[in-house]
Amino acid sequence: MAHKIAVIGGDGIGPEVTAEAIKVMEAAGVELDTTDFELGGARYLRDGEILSDETLDELRAYDAILLGAVGTPDVPPGVIERGLLLKMRFELDLYVNQRPFVGTAPGHDEAHDFVVIRENTEGPYVGEGGVLRKGTPNEVATQGSVNTRMGVERCIRYAFELAQTRHRKHVTLVHKTNVLTFAGDLWQRTFDEVAAEYPDTGIAYNHVDAACIYFVQDPHRYDVVVTDNLFGDILTDLGGAVSGGIGLASSANLNPSRTGPSMFEPVHGSAPDIAGKNLANPTAAVLSAALMLDFLGESDAATRIRSACDDAGSGSTTDIGDTIAARVRD
Ligand code: IPM
Ligand code: MN
Repeated sequence: MAHKIAVIGGDGIGPEVTAEAIKVMEAAGVELDTTDFELGGARYLRDGEILSDETLDELRAYDAILLGAVGTPDVPPGVIERGLLLKMRFELDLYVNQRPFVGTAPGHDEAHDFVVIRENTEGPYVGEGGVLRKGTPNEVATQGSVNTRMGVERCIRYAFELAQTRHRKHVTLVHKTNVLTFAGDLWQRTFDEVAAEYPDTGIAYNHVDAACIYFVQDPHRYDVVVTDNLFGDILTDLGGAVSGGIGLASSANLNPSRTGPSMFEPVHGSAPDIAGKNLANPTAAVLSAALMLDFLGESDAATRIRSACDDAGSGSTTDIGDTIAARVRD
């Protein structure tokens, strides 16, 4: 049966890279039944829709969502990001953001292979807080971070389960327990309790600032990294930068309980400066599609696509897509 995929090309380079991802999946012989959803900056400017509850309900009927990128200079920062991307993460309960990093960091000889599991529905992203006396010298802004035992535990549990499928079986918690003592204590205790259920799995803890050094200087120490929403956001850009560049970084926003569709997107943004010029590297979108195929039980096609992406070279968006598609067909 064909997989029913909702495609949200989105803004900037999003539609271009997404088209290549679909081309490659079809070349791999995967049967897809795709529906385009025109959402993003252009749609918002035209008729005000970012992501209505009706559209969200339509999305629930799909097996998965493939997203290009969101955000455009024509709309104030955050409007589309929160209204579309974060709304899907929250409303579809996509509580794991899985971001794999395979590559050779600058100054290293051997490739590293680790994956960051970023909590995706809590932390500072929930928008708790507010502003008082705006625009006055006495303005007050607060921005809270929400951490629930349930939310932290399900994310950490996912990280440990993932580690069971990898040969090193090692999980590192990254946080800032020395300063964010309330949230840090919840994360650390939950981590220790879950870890006790996996006695064969190695564990470590790094403060997030130290992790930034290790990502660059010693990425080989990592296998599975689990961390909160904001630390994960920042660390995964760094992960991309040390793994061949952000043009290769893929991600899966997962609802592991499968109560609805999961969503797959490159880590990179909409890059409006190069949009529509056939210049963007589509590899991150193609690798995100491979993560989608893994989740849909098409691991054979996913593996073939991943190896076809190795050294796919440079060139235009469509050239790189064609190269990968041709290799997948062989
Ligand atoms: C990401 C992005 C988003 C985030 C933005 C666009 C809201 O940076 O997926 O990493 O902060 O999560
Ligand atoms: Mn980010």
